[in-house]
Amino acid sequence: MTAGSEPSLSTSGVRFPVKLVPVPSKDTGPQILEEFALTGQIAIVTGGNGGLGLEFAIVLAELGAKVYAIDLNSTPSSDFAAAVKYVKRLGSSLEYRSSDVSRQEVISATIGQIASENDGKIHVCVAAAGILGPEIDCTDYPADMFQKIMDVNCSGVFFTAQAVAKLMKREEIAGSIILIASMSGSVTNREMLYSPYNISKSAVIQMARSMACELGPAGIRVNSLSPGHIRTKLTAALLDVQPATEAFWASLNPLGRIGAVHELRGVIAWLASDASTFCTGSDIIVSGGHTIW
Ligand SMILES: NC(=O)c1ccc[n+]([C@@H]2O[C@H](COP(=O)([O-])OP(=O)(O)OC[C@H]3O[C@@H](n4cnc5c(N)ncnc54)[C@H](O)[C@@H]3O)[C@@H](O)[C@H]2O)c1
Repeated sequence: MTAGSEPSLSTSGVRFPVKLVPVPSKDTGPQILEEFALTGQIAIVTGGNGGLGLEFAIVLAELGAKVYAIDLNSTPSSDFAAAVKYVKRLGSSLEYRSSDVSRQEVISATIGQIASENDGKIHVCVAAAGILGPEIDCTDYPADMFQKIMDVNCSGVFFTAQAVAKLMKREEIAGSIILIASMSGSVTNREMLYSPYNISKSAVIQMARSMACELGPAGIRVNSLSPGHIRTKLTAALLDVQPATEAFWASLNPLGRIGAVHELRGVIAWLASDASTFCTGSDIIVSGGHTIW
């Protein structure tokens, strides 16, 4: 494509429409912000009433997407209500839908309903619903608790991604699917007894690779995002009762602190948008360097 020309469909033999961003030049001016824009796109975020999910939903709305947050509660939190007001002021929209990602027909119907309200289209999916489960020695982990973690963290992410991918294929949308895994899918948290959680997150990383291979020919990208320790409801349940754990976790990465929710804003914007069109099947670790020691 020549500098300064409009974005167009690729004719270079690829089997799906690719929007190419013009090569920056003196005439076109900087293009980088345009590459991140999600103007007019439809996005869904599961776990969207939670710490990371709600922040992800806000980021996508800030970039111009119409966002649907999906979570278990019949009504969302007061934080969510505040986010809706903020997003409205920006001229975007953030809506809430109650659903259960661990039940295939239920989450598929919720996603189908959102698509049907938007000409069948969904462009971005962030599968962030997840649970930690209790801390129990691996030799004693009860079967029902193990199953529950797999149902939400593994099956739930798969059911979400498959429902969205089906719609993207039908509508020929070269969309972006982001599966929220964890650094615990690649390394084991020292002195923490959370084997089922870690196992479920390894599965999510492999899920992104496998789905990326199957969906690549349709132009659909699937990546996993693996955060390190971030303070949210999920980790607060532990940190609030064991304050020494936060100092311990902080000591395990070169930056010497745990992360904050807003420190994942940039990576979600990048993965969701045309700023990352050649990235698929990758696991992006954002852990303050926890995994490099
Ligand atoms: N906080 C961290 O340090 C951290 C680190 C790595 C990965 N993660 C992952 O990030 C994701 C978000 O975690 P968070 O820290 O925001 O936790 P959170 O507890 O604040 O949010 C998780 C949300 O998922 C929802 N959820 C649980 N089961 C569900 C179901 N069956 N259907 C629909 N929604 C359901 C919960 O209601 C909750 O709102 C999770 O997948 C988690 O494993 C978190």
